[in-house]
Formats: sequence, C-alpha cells, structure tokens
Amino acid sequence: MMGDFVMMWLQIFVLGISVLFRCTDSVDLPRFVGPGSNVTVAVGRDAALTCRVDNLQTFKVAWLRVDTQTILTIAGHVITKNHRISVNHGDGAWTLGLKDVGSSDGGRYMCQVNTEPMMSQTHQLQVVVPPDIDDEASSGEVLVKEGENAALRCVASGTPPPAIAWRREDSRHFKINNQTLVSKWAGEWMNLTSVERAASGAYLCIATNGVPPSVSKRIQINVMFAPSVWAGRVAVRTLMGSAATLQCSAEAYPAPQFHWTLNGEQRLVNGSKFKLSVSSRGYRHTLSLLVSEMSRDDAGAYRCHVENSLGKAQAELFLHSKWNKLKLGMPSRE
Ligand SMILES: *[C@@H]1O[C@H](CO)[C@@H](O)[C@H](O)[C@H]1NC(C)=O
Ligand SMILES: *[C@@H]1O[C@H](CO)[C@@H](O)[C@H](O)[C@H]1NC(C)=O
Ligand SMILES: *[C@@H]1O[C@H](CO)[C@@H](O)[C@H](O)[C@H]1NC(C)=O
Ligand SMILES: *[C@@H]1O[C@H](CO)[C@@H](O)[C@H](O)[C@H]1NC(C)=O
Repeated sequence: MMGDFVMMWLQIFVLGISVLFRCTDSVDLPRFVGPGSNVTVAVGRDAALTCRVDNLQTFKVAWLRVDTQTILTIAGHVITKNHRISVNHGDGAWTLGLKDVGSSDGGRYMCQVNTEPMMSQTHQLQVVVPPDIDDEASSGEVLVKEGENAALRCVASGTPPPAIAWRREDSRHFKINNQTLVSKWAGEWMNLTSVERAASGAYLCIATNGVPPSVSKRIQINVMFAPSVWAGRVAVRTLMGSAATLQCSAEAYPAPQFHWTLNGEQRLVNGSKFKLSVSSRGYRHTLSLLVSEMSRDDAGAYRCHVENSLGKAQAELFLHSKWNKLKLGMPSRE
C-alpha cells in the first residue's frame, strides 16, 4: 500500500519534470514572425520573399522551391546553380532574392528551419505578365461582301488572362449581332452579321489584364459592294465663256474606275477643255469635271460612269449655257 503511494508520487514528479522540460523546450524553439508572404511581381522584374524568424539560436534557415523540391539557399549560402537567386539576412529576416523573374518562377516557396521536427512556412510568388496579342492567331485585314457576315478574332496571352475589348478607331458606334448599335464590344470574337458598308473602317482590339502596358491591334474591315452613283446637281447652268464644274458622288469598294462621257459619245480626257478629278474618303468618292470656257458645243447630257469588280453604275447631268444678260443686253430669257 505504502509502496503504491510512493510510486504514484514518483510518477507525478517525473511527469512534472518532463512537462517543465517541454515548456522550457518550446520557449527555446525558434518561431516564425508573421505569416508567409504573398508577393506579386511583373515578369522581368526582381522579387524578394522575406521570412522572419525569432530566437533562431544555432538553427539554420533554408529556402526551398516547393514545386520542384529544390533547396535554394541554406543560411547565407546559395545552394542552387541559378545565378538569379540570392539570400540576405539581418535582424532576424531571411530574404530570398530573385532577379529578372520569369513566368516559371511563380509558385510556392518554403522557408524552413532545421529544428526537430523541422518547421516551415509557405510563401507565394505570383508572376504577372502584361498582355501580348498573337498576330498570327488574330484577324488581319478583313474583306467581306456587303450583306455577309464577318468574324473578327483577337487572341492575347498574359497572366492573368487578358480581357479583350473592341472599338472603332474613330470611336463611332457600330452594329453588332445584327442591329444593335454599340460603342464597345468585349470578347475574343467580334462577329458582325449582315455587314453594311458603314461597318468599313479601322477597329482596335485592346487587351488588358491590369498589368501595364495594355496592347492593341488595328484591324481594318473593308466591305465590298458594287458602285452606286448620283449627280450632285442634275442641271447646271453657266455663262458662255466661263467655267462650270459638274460633280457626281459615288460609293464603291474596291476603289472604282471612273470616266465621263458627253452626249453618249467617247470618254472625255484631261486637257485644256476638261479637267477630271476624284477625291476619295474610304468608300465615298466625289468625281468632278471642270468644263472651261463654256461654249455652245459643251452643252448637253454628261454622264459619270463608275465601275469596280462587283459592278458598274452611272448618273446623268445636264449642262446648259446661259447668255450674259448684262454683256449682251438681252432680255431675261434662258
Ligand atoms: C496571393 O494574392 C493573390 C492576389 O494578389 C491572390 O489571388 C492569391 O489567392 C493569394 N494567395 C495566397 C496563397 O494567399
Ligand atoms: C438579322 O436581321 C435581318 C433583318 O434585319 C434578318 O433577316 C436576319 O434573320 C437577322 N439575323 C439574325 C442572325 O438575327
Ligand atoms: C463567332 O464566329 C466564330 C467563327 O465563325 C465562331 O467560332 C464563334 O463561335 C462565333 N461567336 C459567337 C459569339 O457567335
Ligand atoms: C487630270 O489632271 C489632274 C491634274 O490637272 C489630275 O489630278 C487628274 O488625276 C487627271 N485625271 C485623269 C483621269 O487623268
């Protein structure tokens, strides 16, 4: 009975001693200060991960790459052969440096202390990459016949994955998904149904992912259609001896050939009597015919002819002469 009591007290005593030892043990162990870091860095820049350890004593801090299970540094020494890696310590902080970070450097890193059992803390490196547009996979110049559909694509890479926005270079609204007018469109594809000539022009696809710089690609849409043409003023009157300008407005793409005729006869040519010119803005063309020194022979029915690979069109105008009332002193009669 007595022996049992002694044994019991002895056991309690031993337990107490071991608890006491454990307590002093845990006080003496190193500990991490603060949580593991989560660092975001743009590709090509330098990154630093810092591990803070209190009460390190003679233990050593190592940095490891979790994904590849590689030891990078131990204490002040770089173990890996990667020359972009460095380690700095001071004030209980152990900083792993990575120069010229690449996409593949992203992932988890571990700060380890060689206690028994070993202590570790995980740090995260996020490598972000600015957007880049894949020219090959994206649309180039788009040629489409009026009334048909066009599918424009813009493919971009980057981390995080970029968002794609579309707009017209001139900021005008445009029709998408049949007849909805929009100023912007989002998504890799911009599908235009039943395109009209007004859809012609330059579009920009802009890739953004929050990592500067954003990038854009210019994509030209050319809508092809047969010419249409109409006279500026159908009847033009001019004084004998003075000049007159006849004008036609045309719409056509591809850019049309044009010529003028008088009274259904052969083509008029540039010279001292006639000056032919054209000015174009996109698919809109203004044809001008300058008739100098108006004479009786110059009066008549003029036609402007416009032709491209998809068709032809013409418009008629009349040039009349009128007498100079003042000069000839004639009654007002034309
Ligand atoms: C690290 O931060 C990024 C945002 O910067 C977040 O998306 C990610 O979930 C974070 N990772 C951890 C492990 O906290
Ligand atoms: C687009 O609109 C036209 C008429 O405006 C219609 O005939 C056609 O079916 C529509 N297409 C789609 C895909 O909605
Ligand atoms: C746009 O057109 C492409 C190619 O024709 C097609 O693969 C894609 O699904 C279309 N997208 C939408 C939203 O209609
Ligand atoms: C006619 O001459 C003008 C310059 O005087 C020129 O700009 C125009 O292109 C010429 N037109 C043709 C059809 O040769």
